Amino acid sequence: MLLSPSFKLLICASALTWASAVASHGNVTPQPVDTGDLPDLGTDALNKNPFREGNEHGELNEKAVNIGESAYAGNCAGCHGIEAQSGGLTPDLRELTEWDDEYFIGRVMNGTDRGMPSFKSNLGQTAIWSIRTYVESVSDN
Ligand code: HEC
Repeated sequence: MLLSPSFKLLICASALTWASAVASHGNVTPQPVDTGDLPDLGTDALNKNPFREGNEHGELNEKAVNIGESAYAGNCAGCHGIEAQSGGLTPDLRELTEWDDEYFIGRVMNGTDRGMPSFKSNLGQTAIWSIRTYVESVSDN
């Protein structure tokens, strides 16, 4: 691929911003999540948030919201921002809609090659869907 020099610079600059953003936000060590008495969903990824119940407005499971809140704070806030207010360096998770469930779990389990770590070995899907549920509780969608 041919890249113009200015484009290369841009890439460097954003990589640097990245490094310092991650460093200054400190802790990216995965934090274990106690999923309390939420059902254990096993390891085969569901393609839809099981804690969004019933109607189209998606009533959220309160327990999942609470567990997801601390799981998010311990594992995601360092990069995605307090209460999912990204500040622009990472995608704003509040913009995802319920149609993005499958995409969401895939990203969190597998990570991406542009700065998103994989959480597969640290978080079970019960914890991941709780985080998803928490993020929904603080978004407008
Ligand atoms: C070390 C920083 C970092 C941590 C920690 C992190 N992420 Fe990310 N995340 C990123 C980056 C960077 C991207 C964009 C990656 C890309 O475009 O390839 C991203 C992308 C995503 C996406 C895709 C969003 C979209 O609109 O495309 C989801 C979903 C996501 N992260 C969820 C989470 C969750 C949930 C956690 C906590 C369990 C988490 N992330 C922890 C850096 C991080």
